[in-house]
Amino acid sequence: MSQSREASTGGGSLTVIGTGIRPQQLTPESRHALLEADDLLYLAAEPGGGSWLERLHPNARSLEGCYVAGEERRSAYEAMVEAILEPVRRGRRVCAAFYGHPGVFVTPSHEAVRRAHADGFPARMLPAVSAEDCLYADLGIDPGRSGRQSYEATEFLEHPRPVDGRAYLILWQISVIGERRAVSSPRYAGLAELAEALLAHYPPEHEVVVYEASPYPLVDAIVERLPLVALAEEQVTPMATLVIPPRER
Ligand SMILES: C[S@@+](CC[C@H](N)C(=O)[O-])C[C@H]1O[C@@H](n2cnc3c(N)ncnc32)[C@H](O)[C@@H]1O
Repeated sequence: MSQSREASTGGGSLTVIGTGIRPQQLTPESRHALLEADDLLYLAAEPGGGSWLERLHPNARSLEGCYVAGEERRSAYEAMVEAILEPVRRGRRVCAAFYGHPGVFVTPSHEAVRRAHADGFPARMLPAVSAEDCLYADLGIDPGRSGRQSYEATEFLEHPRPVDGRAYLILWQISVIGERRAVSSPRYAGLAELAEALLAHYPPEHEVVVYEASPYPLVDAIVERLPLVALAEEQVTPMATLVIPPRER
């Protein structure tokens, strides 16, 4: 008789969850997975932002230390994947929690699931509330009406895509455009490059929105509306996302 997968791998398993943008968005399904795990490894949106997870789980540990200032972010991602898989290989039931949706603009979460599967461990990812979900609610946008395009900002600049002027354009990670290293402060120069590229598709007075969903209950989102031409001068926060409404309605 063939051995079951769990028996052959000593019982280790991985569940990747998302915490949403604020703690109240943790789904019952994810909360259950978190409480059932032997170990919880987490990445919060900002240093210290995961203290509530440490209160929920006795073996909670932040992955923040994987970032080394000035080093390539992909080295940090590799360190996170290995930090997540090490206890799985020791037979532990591991929960890895990322802010927002764990599969939306997150490299190590997908890679950890892929590698766990390749090593023969049960692994899954649960859905969660992403910044984009919050954006639809806060800005009153229904992507079903006009459609939407959604890109990582550096990727959008380096590998230009056709822009559909009838759809919303959502650009992520606008605070670190062109920056592949782990940095603690935004790179504003990238915004000027982005604004210039966008001016090929939209008139200078076209209104754009710099958006930041609130990480706190009862606190409003930050919604800054400005003409595209002013984007180059904008001092965006690290968690900001750019929303460009359709040019033609
Ligand atoms: C590495 S991605 C992580 C996204 C996250 N997994 C999610 O589901 O929202 C980081 C980017 O997500 C966006 N983001 C994260 N938190 C946000 C917030 N509170 N409001 C708006 N955008 C946010 C920003 O574009 C930021 O640069």
